[in-house]
Amino acid sequence: MAHQVRAVVARAKGAPVSLETIIVPDPGPGEALVKIEACGVCHTDLHYREGGINDDFPFLLGHEAAGIVESVGEGVTDVAPGDFVILNWRAVCGQCRACRRGRPQYCFNTHNAKQKMTLLDGTELSPALGIGAFAEKTLVAAGQCTKVDPAASAAAVGLLGCGVMAGIGAAINTGNVGRGDSVAVIGCGGVGDAAVVGSRLAGAAKIIAVDIDDRKLQTAKKLGATHTVNSRDSDAVEAIRELTGGFGADVVIEAVGRPETYQQAFYGRDLAGTVVLVGVPTPEMKLELPLLDVFGRGGALKSSWYGDCLPSRDFPMLVDLYLQGRLDLDAFVTETIALDEVEKAFERMHGGDVLRSVVVL
Ligand SMILES: NC(=O)c1ccc[n+]([C@@H]2O[C@H](COP(=O)([O-])OP(=O)(O)OC[C@H]3O[C@@H](n4cnc5c(N)ncnc54)[C@H](O)[C@@H]3O)[C@@H](O)[C@H]2O)c1
Ligand SMILES: [Zn+2]
Ligand SMILES: [Zn+2]
Repeated sequence: MAHQVRAVVARAKGAPVSLETIIVPDPGPGEALVKIEACGVCHTDLHYREGGINDDFPFLLGHEAAGIVESVGEGVTDVAPGDFVILNWRAVCGQCRACRRGRPQYCFNTHNAKQKMTLLDGTELSPALGIGAFAEKTLVAAGQCTKVDPAASAAAVGLLGCGVMAGIGAAINTGNVGRGDSVAVIGCGGVGDAAVVGSRLAGAAKIIAVDIDDRKLQTAKKLGATHTVNSRDSDAVEAIRELTGGFGADVVIEAVGRPETYQQAFYGRDLAGTVVLVGVPTPEMKLELPLLDVFGRGGALKSSWYGDCLPSRDFPMLVDLYLQGRLDLDAFVTETIALDEVEKAFERMHGGDVLRSVVVL
């Protein structure tokens, strides 16, 4: 039996999204049907709509979600109907060269549902990041469902499905931030703020938030930044060095995705320190650095894909910390909206006063 549900679809490049009735098949082998409770609006959804990811329109948008498993297909044992789950875009395969080397967080062959969801006329939909959760129900690979404590708020913990996990993981997994470290975070949107929160969780002694928008800096401070720098008014590198005894931070997390902010990260870091690039650049961007500085400054230059997370390891742990009051995920939910307000949420993104709008169903 197929299900007809309401969902947010991007039909054509640059065109406003529309609320449509779509057809979601019953789960086949290895798949799960999930009733969505909440789904955050992420920049990546807007990128899809603008044709910035690929041209596989129509897209079924939404990917930062939590919900309840409604039914599962043949052979699914990890989750069962009734489970409260966060959806992820890293259902590891266990077979690829990364998995075989014991590094499943880099899995090169992550699983998605095999069956397609469609429009009423049979046109196949491309679900954003293999999820598609601005919908009453969606179909995913069972491995994309991570069971967590149902006492948690779906709107808050669903955000672990993408941006918030990317930021926290950039600090705790990729940057390996530890007790007493100094950290600078460049770009304090949802991802950068999550990196601030992750750094604090990891015991960083100094957390310097850098942004060009004072409102963003205020929020970063509330979330745990010990110092703020408006890099429109002052030189980011000099300011970071000044705040770290003249040396630079042990770890600098770049959460913008631009060459100039990457350079700030590179030079705002202490000798032998770590740069983590979690911001996503666009194809035309180029980086120029003296190779001697790359050598001479030592340390590590790393990229962070999805915070190098392993959903099965990280989601339940972070949800437990949230429930204990040690990780304020509610602070990332600026507003809750209805399914037909996603387009408005895209417009609000440019305003700079929203960390996350979250669709609640
Ligand atoms: N690596 C991953 O797996 C992953 C996952 C999700 C998102 N991302 C990426 O992370 C980045 C941030 O996402 P977000 O949701 O926080 O976006 P956002 O737009 O909410 O935040 C970006 C922040 O950067 C600030 N900014 C812009 N230009 C700046 C500059 N020159 N100097 C300092 N600050 C500047 C903005 O004021 C804003 O606060 C994006 O590139 C996004 O695509 C990466
Ligand atoms: Zn793999
Ligand atoms: Zn996202």
